[in-house]
Amino acid sequence: MRGVNVLKPKIFVTQLIPDTVKVYLENYFTVEIWEQQEIIPRETLYKKIQESEGLLTAGIEINQELLSQAINLKVVSNISVGYNNFDIEVMKENGIIGTNTQGVLDETVTDLIFGLMLSTARRINELDTYMRNGEWTSGDDRNLFGMDVYGQTLGIIGLGRIGESIVHRAVSGFNMDVLYHNRSRKTELEKQWGVQYEQMEDVLTKSDFVIVMTPLNKDTFHLIGKKQFELMKDTAIFINASRGPIVDELALIDALDKKKIFAAGLDVFEQEPINSTNPLLKLNNVVLTPHIGSATDKTREEMAQLAAENLVNAIIHKKHSNVVNELKTIVKI
Ligand code: DGY
Repeated sequence: MRGVNVLKPKIFVTQLIPDTVKVYLENYFTVEIWEQQEIIPRETLYKKIQESEGLLTAGIEINQELLSQAINLKVVSNISVGYNNFDIEVMKENGIIGTNTQGVLDETVTDLIFGLMLSTARRINELDTYMRNGEWTSGDDRNLFGMDVYGQTLGIIGLGRIGESIVHRAVSGFNMDVLYHNRSRKTELEKQWGVQYEQMEDVLTKSDFVIVMTPLNKDTFHLIGKKQFELMKDTAIFINASRGPIVDELALIDALDKKKIFAAGLDVFEQEPINSTNPLLKLNNVVLTPHIGSATDKTREEMAQLAAENLVNAIIHKKHSNVVNELKTIVKI
């Protein structure tokens, strides 16, 4: 007698994932993975996802066009905390669940943010180049001096989970005063860490370091532009490891070029990968990294595993985990 052939639901993965995560997924699904380095072309993606119930991805735009091809799709699981690739309204209309990987990357992104703060304030990259160019020919040179991090005032715009981890580090490790602006007050954090809520203008004018940590959506597009850079101290250091389009990049370039602020540390850009003609590449008061905030082996593995579990929970167990706020109504959480 033949055994019952139980067909597993199909899922498509748009990027390489660790073998352990692949093996885990294969317990539940028929898994197809895009294994090439280049981003999957849209037409190829449309062909691949026609029978898929789940999509495991990072950064692939989920819009009406894609959903009209993916007629069996139920869940999109992002291997990222950011979900600006989701067209929320369209996903709601089509009843598509979207999940993210909040939590597991907080400390790793915080590491990078402090790396950017230290390297901009103490001009580490600029002075590394100075050394390699053989320019260190005399003694102590005032022109090489930088700014302190320890004991300075840090302003955070958008105090979510990663913002909280920055607060812990700033207060306990660097004895910083922390100001923040957020849609809602974080009174527990205020009590525990002595952080102070301020209007956004006040965060900008009073801080030595300004870190933007909001998610990208229609309300935060170009939240930081010419006016905001003008409000900052001329000694201020601006850090963005959230999403590029939150900042008007031309206004930032102008502020850096005219020394309206001291420096910037940037992990994200309006266009990624960055265009080779971008003037940021020519400025020496900016430190640039290629969107690697969460990019350590350990954290990326944890993110991929969590995203895989989110997919299994939603499709197999109907026990949803890490559904993004705006889509929780679909699953009635
Ligand atoms: C995230 O998780 O959103 C990080 O930016 C990595 O993409």
